Amino acid sequence: MSTPEKVYLKDYQAPAFNVDSIHLNFDLFEDFCRVQSEIKFNKTNKKENDLFLEGEELELVSVLINDAKATYELSKTGLTIKNVPDHFTLKIETRLKPQENTSLEGLYKSGNIFCTQCEAQGFRKVTYFMDRPDVMTTYTVRIEADEKKYPILLSNGDRIESGKAKDGRHFVVWNDPHKKPCYLFALVAGDLGLLKDTFTTASGRKVNLEIYAHHGLQAKCEHAMDSLKKSMKWDEERFGREYDLSIYMILAIDDFNAGAMENKGLNIFNSRLVFADGKSATDTDYYNIESVIAHEYFHNWTGNRVTLRDWFHLSLKEGLTVFRDQEFSMDMSSRSMVRIDNVDDLRASQFAEDAGPNAHAIRPASCYAVDNFFTSTIYEKGSEVIRMMQTMVGRPGFRKGMDNYFAKHDGQAVIIEDFAKAIAEPNNQDWEQFKLWYSQAGTPKVKVKEQYSAENKTYNLTLRQECPQTSQEKIENVVKKPFHIPLVIGLLDSKGNDMNLESDSISKNTENQNLIHLKKETQEFVFKNVSEKPVLSLNRQFSSPIHLDWEASFNEVLFLMKYDSDAFNRWEASQKLYLKELSAQISEIRKGSTHVTTDPKLIEALGFVINNKDLDPALKAKLLSPPSNDYLAQLEPVLDGPSFHKAQDNLAKAIGVHYEKSLLEIYNSLHGKNVDSRDAKDFDRRRLKNLALYFLSFLPQHQELAFDQFKNAKIMTDEIAAFSILVDLESNHREEAIRMFHDKWKDDSLVMNKWFAVQANSSHKNTLKNVAELLRHKEFNIKNPNRVYALLRTFGNNFARFHDPAFDTYHFMADQVIALDKLNPQVAARIVACFDVWEKLPENQKGKVKTELQRMLAHGLSSNTHEIVVKALG
Ligand code: ARG
Ligand code: ZN
Repeated sequence: MSTPEKVYLKDYQAPAFNVDSIHLNFDLFEDFCRVQSEIKFNKTNKKENDLFLEGEELELVSVLINDAKATYELSKTGLTIKNVPDHFTLKIETRLKPQENTSLEGLYKSGNIFCTQCEAQGFRKVTYFMDRPDVMTTYTVRIEADEKKYPILLSNGDRIESGKAKDGRHFVVWNDPHKKPCYLFALVAGDLGLLKDTFTTASGRKVNLEIYAHHGLQAKCEHAMDSLKKSMKWDEERFGREYDLSIYMILAIDDFNAGAMENKGLNIFNSRLVFADGKSATDTDYYNIESVIAHEYFHNWTGNRVTLRDWFHLSLKEGLTVFRDQEFSMDMSSRSMVRIDNVDDLRASQFAEDAGPNAHAIRPASCYAVDNFFTSTIYEKGSEVIRMMQTMVGRPGFRKGMDNYFAKHDGQAVIIEDFAKAIAEPNNQDWEQFKLWYSQAGTPKVKVKEQYSAENKTYNLTLRQECPQTSQEKIENVVKKPFHIPLVIGLLDSKGNDMNLESDSISKNTENQNLIHLKKETQEFVFKNVSEKPVLSLNRQFSSPIHLDWEASFNEVLFLMKYDSDAFNRWEASQKLYLKELSAQISEIRKGSTHVTTDPKLIEALGFVINNKDLDPALKAKLLSPPSNDYLAQLEPVLDGPSFHKAQDNLAKAIGVHYEKSLLEIYNSLHGKNVDSRDAKDFDRRRLKNLALYFLSFLPQHQELAFDQFKNAKIMTDEIAAFSILVDLESNHREEAIRMFHDKWKDDSLVMNKWFAVQANSSHKNTLKNVAELLRHKEFNIKNPNRVYALLRTFGNNFARFHDPAFDTYHFMADQVIALDKLNPQVAARIVACFDVWEKLPENQKGKVKTELQRMLAHGLSSNTHEIVVKALG
């Protein structure tokens, strides 16, 4: 394998050719597929003599230019047509083997279904073309296949013709009137069942909604259908965006690298984000389905109508579309509760990424593999930056900006700057400094200093920001400047009420929030007429994606947890209390202490939550949830997985012991209620109940409770919660539960993913051995990404056991990556990211990881996996 090469944003050049139209003809057979294309080109840069078309793993049959033989050169990466005129038509015939395509990009087969994944650069595996998002054209697609085996033939746009062909074959012709880049092309052929519905747009047009999946699974698609209709309505109401074709199709497929894909008019989804019924899908699955269906639908405007110029600007559509799906989810239930969950995820994944070797800017300057851009930085941090814009200009102002964006750029391929400008313009914002969020990586840390003068009734807040260079920024010598950090602020009086704020540096947004702007490295904010020493509530709703370094006393933090009017900061306070305690316990455990006690002050603080009957169950569950491992690891000096785990268990047990009675009361009052409800309120109640069960399970006398819940569960949320608890225990129910779950669900592939994942996530000492055995289980299939993620990605995130120095886990994982990389580079690159934390590990562990990283590299890797490994090695 040759060493992969880097590409740079600064090397971008506009295409030298326009494409007026493309006609594609697909002949699908059992052993190969014939692809004929007819493309009309227009030269836009007359200096260019040759036309280069990307193409990989294709067998070229013929190339005609204006119906005559073309002069061309063929290479591993594409086809160069020599001396082309100003206007011409190319006719290219190729053959490919979708049946042998294990990378799951381009045209491939999932079971008996032909399907495509072209984003980011899969179209070059379909045919020779200018595979870049700034080349947009209209597509006409004819698909021909055996009529019995493939009765359903789909592509983008409208079905304009269909009929019989010879030898029991049939064909359908599709036309997409909207110009699009080739990454939005899609094709589907199979024997599929259909769930149908309609939606009438605000202007009265009827749209056919069609969800395709294996026969017999149509009832499981109803939640997805409801979610789609809600999304369509919401985008009309919130952003004035209507759907623009007469048909919207979704295909659910079992073999898919990512979550889903927004191909114009024909989304292709990982089946785990479509199928749901109460028995087999958890509340979280229901939530995720609604949110991803929405995400892909929203792409129709943010991504498809307005697309991106090049892949370095991926966040233009992904950050914005995540922002839109988050806003949608917030509007569908409780805004602050959804915000808390989103921030929890952001800190667990994106902050971790930003703290590791793969830290990159939202708009990266270079890369090896474009596929590696599908990160939480591009997605989730991208969304945070847009959220800051909305916080600064308010929701009505943001809507004006969005209208401006669509008015200016509909039908174009644009860059992130265009978006920022479109939002800033009608709101008279100067975002020169703010845009540094796009080019500088890392999570800024803001240090807080407070001073109150009773005499002058002034409160002085001094903020200092820092964001050291990331490893990549060091290599590229990026000189970093201070960020523009908008912070929503409140000051609480001794009764817990919000004080009226008087300060020159405060602005109010349309939501009536008080906002300060930290723009310098160090900046002082003065508040006048402050009648008593206030308690600070800063970065409300997590208005900026930063680490807030605030040395508050235990009592101040507790005060916020009890009284802050900002629900987010109440949760933030609870996390701070938990983190402080965990940190203290981890440090004692690392020093060798075997009897670590829990601070009674924390126990008392949690009692306020547990025993508070007025507290909303949603917030209660959140305040009681211990912080994620990933976030803990960022704040700890050393990632010592087994010690983290001991501290977490120790703390959970202390909570169980202290509040046994109250937790049982919570459990009994909620268990078995409204099991058929899919309302967010009931999701929250179940979350609280299962959290109570988790704390109780540390008392041997209540382990039967978990087993009872497991055996009698009517819904997957309850079943999986109990199962996870049992699989962590050293009891004889453990093996029994694993067997029972398997026997009950062995025919449901999606539920079996959970079976693999729960075991890979177990803190049981045999986990490595178990994972190695599961790799050989007949239900495991290395070619199915969902299975690989369930088993290997989960294990790589299992801090307690993956980073247990007693086992050779790193060698095991590296072997799997090497094997996977040959089959599916995108999946391998995601798995290998589990090593990104290595510099935080204890010394002896670091050496082991380094050896494995070098061993993988020496093996020769795909550009995807190569990039992640090279960055990790530094
Ligand atoms: N654009 C898709 C989305 O909605 C994701 C496609 C992922 N593709 C990939 N190669 N990882 O977010
Ligand atoms: Zn997306």
